[in-house]
Amino acid sequence: MMVDTMARMTQAAPATAVLTVAVAKGKIFSQALERLRSVGYPVPVGLTDHSRRLMVDTPDGSLRLLLVKNSDVPTYVEYGAADAGIVGRDVVAESGRDVLEPVRLGFSRCSLVVAVPVSQAAKPLHRGTALRVATKYPRQTRAYFEARGLSVDIIPLSGSVELAPLAGLADYIVDMVETGTTLRENGLVPVDTVAESEAVLIVNRASHKLRAAAVMELVKRLELGR
Ligand code: PRP
Repeated sequence: MMVDTMARMTQAAPATAVLTVAVAKGKIFSQALERLRSVGYPVPVGLTDHSRRLMVDTPDGSLRLLLVKNSDVPTYVEYGAADAGIVGRDVVAESGRDVLEPVRLGFSRCSLVVAVPVSQAAKPLHRGTALRVATKYPRQTRAYFEARGLSVDIIPLSGSVELAPLAGLADYIVDMVETGTTLRENGLVPVDTVAESEAVLIVNRASHKLRAAAVMELVKRLELGR
């Protein structure tokens, strides 16, 4: 009798435990929520990244969403404040955070490029003289130029990087290109690609083991939903 009761209690327990997922605000946000909905998680409709509420649960209790600035998503996941996150691969690479990256989601595709003013495009990247490179991605920029033996002075910026050559702040930029419109409108052309990016699912190492069933359910659904 006791065994039967126990068995029923086990069956009655939810198939998946609640998972906390940090979602990057900005360009990725609405597509990330749409993807979660399309694979069966009932994310409330009308939720935007301008919401003042920064923590939202799905009505079935399967997901708790944290609305997070994109560069902070890997931090939430590495520390385990979120079991998983949806963010750009470029942001994960730049963060240097120790997280698993099990699923490429196939949206928000873009390229991290070296770009120069049109007038400089025909010249090779210089060797010898220290050139100034403005970027939101100093870690990847340093690695790119070091690998080529080029000495550069990296100027970290937090936005509107395309302005830097126009304003005389830098010779080159390293920045993300999606449609290419921002580069074109500021008289810049890409001369090399540093890395390709797209939205990815990242997972905390401990959650991957301790909450394996719920994490694998999320991974499986997102893989099938690509
Ligand atoms: C990103 C990126 C480029 C722009 C590229 O900036 O840094 O500036 O988008 O997109 P495009 O190729 O489609 O024109 P974001 O919009 O995130 O703003 P920010 O420059 O202020 O960071």
